[in-house]
Amino acid sequence: MRVLVSGGAGYIGSHTVVQLIAAGHDVVIVDSFANSKPAVIGRLEALTGEAIPVHAFDLTDRDKTERLFADEPFDAVIHFAGLKAVGESAEIPLEYYENNLGTTFSLVRAMRRHGVKMLVFSSSATVYGEEAPLPYREDYAPLQASSPYGRTKVMIEHVLTDVAAADPSLRIGILRYFNPVGAHPSGTIGEDPQGIPNNLMPFIAQVAVGRRDKLVVFGDDYPTADGTCERDYIHVEDLAAGHVAALNTLATSEKAVSVWNLGTGQGTSVLEMVHAFERAVGRELPYEIGPRRAGDQPRSWADPARANDELGWRTVKTIDDMCADTWRWQSSNPTGYED
Ligand code: NAD
Ligand code: WQD
Repeated sequence: MRVLVSGGAGYIGSHTVVQLIAAGHDVVIVDSFANSKPAVIGRLEALTGEAIPVHAFDLTDRDKTERLFADEPFDAVIHFAGLKAVGESAEIPLEYYENNLGTTFSLVRAMRRHGVKMLVFSSSATVYGEEAPLPYREDYAPLQASSPYGRTKVMIEHVLTDVAAADPSLRIGILRYFNPVGAHPSGTIGEDPQGIPNNLMPFIAQVAVGRRDKLVVFGDDYPTADGTCERDYIHVEDLAAGHVAALNTLATSEKAVSVWNLGTGQGTSVLEMVHAFERAVGRELPYEIGPRRAGDQPRSWADPARANDELGWRTVKTIDDMCADTWRWQSSNPTGYED
């Protein structure tokens, strides 16, 4: 298939591009580089041995998006492009709604005009809100989220479901990611957050490489085994494989819209993750216990049974793989991608 990958220069998009090419697909990237560096493209070309066409523009621009689809044929779109920082989304909510919904509107409009039927969308476990029972299952309703970021995902899921109901020839896959971590085993591509990392794994990695003094663990008085929050961490390589599997399944699916959890089904606590990272690095890492972070759920993990059955996909990487691969990336690229 000829696949347009929006946000293909980003963390999850870049790992998915490598696996799409390995699976024999032709890939075209569209990315504004709002939260990524052009240098990733050379790394992708070195890893895949292929020249990868890149269109650098903002997908909220409907005219540019329309022109791209008028110029080139695509069989499918994988839509990663969006803003993703939960805290920032409360400070600049309008930008989050405009960007995350606007990119989706441009893409879906152009797909409809040019007869592109297949779409895979990056949703998030955050749409399960605070009330859903564990493990999270795709049939849980109503969706709700506690941040503007999360609400963009809830809204887009509703938009895509309505669009698919109006045109049953579409094949839309909504993927709800749990906590993506890790890096390509080569250590040449990985997560490169701008500024102070919001998320646990890149923060630990920057402590390990000496860019940060210590990790602050956000609370150890939760109702969990060791008192720290538990999450379903999924290796970005397993996550990327889930996108290739979703495309294959959509190509023969009889349903216009499908929703799949991409997680392992296992919870890991913050302290377990710190100790796993210490094993990867081979030394102790400095951390202290701090107050809770507003909005954190004590526990979150997937029921991945539907994705296992319908996509013929399952995760294979362990927590130790996630830490070893993150460390290989971080230690060989201490300051991330250079411009
Ligand atoms: P990322 O920021 O690394 O990648 C997103 C890419 O989209 C970036 O390269 C950015 O430059 C690009 N982009 C943003 N706005 C754009 C626009 N208007 N036009 C064109 N390009 C634009 O993020 P990621 O971690 O790779 O996440 C990819 C997707 O998965 C996002 O939609 C995110 O919300 C979703 N997701 C991420 C996580 C996670 O923890 N990383 C979890 C669940 C869901
Ligand atoms: C994990 C655990 C923190 C940093 C977020 C988004 C979610 C999804 C994935 C996009 C929590 C603790 C963290 C630190 C810490 N993204 N922590 N010290 O919050 O589960 O999920 O990313 O869709 O929507 O909310 O991930 O990595 O931020 O936190 O103790 O410096 O690590 O409290 O328990 P989270 P995270």
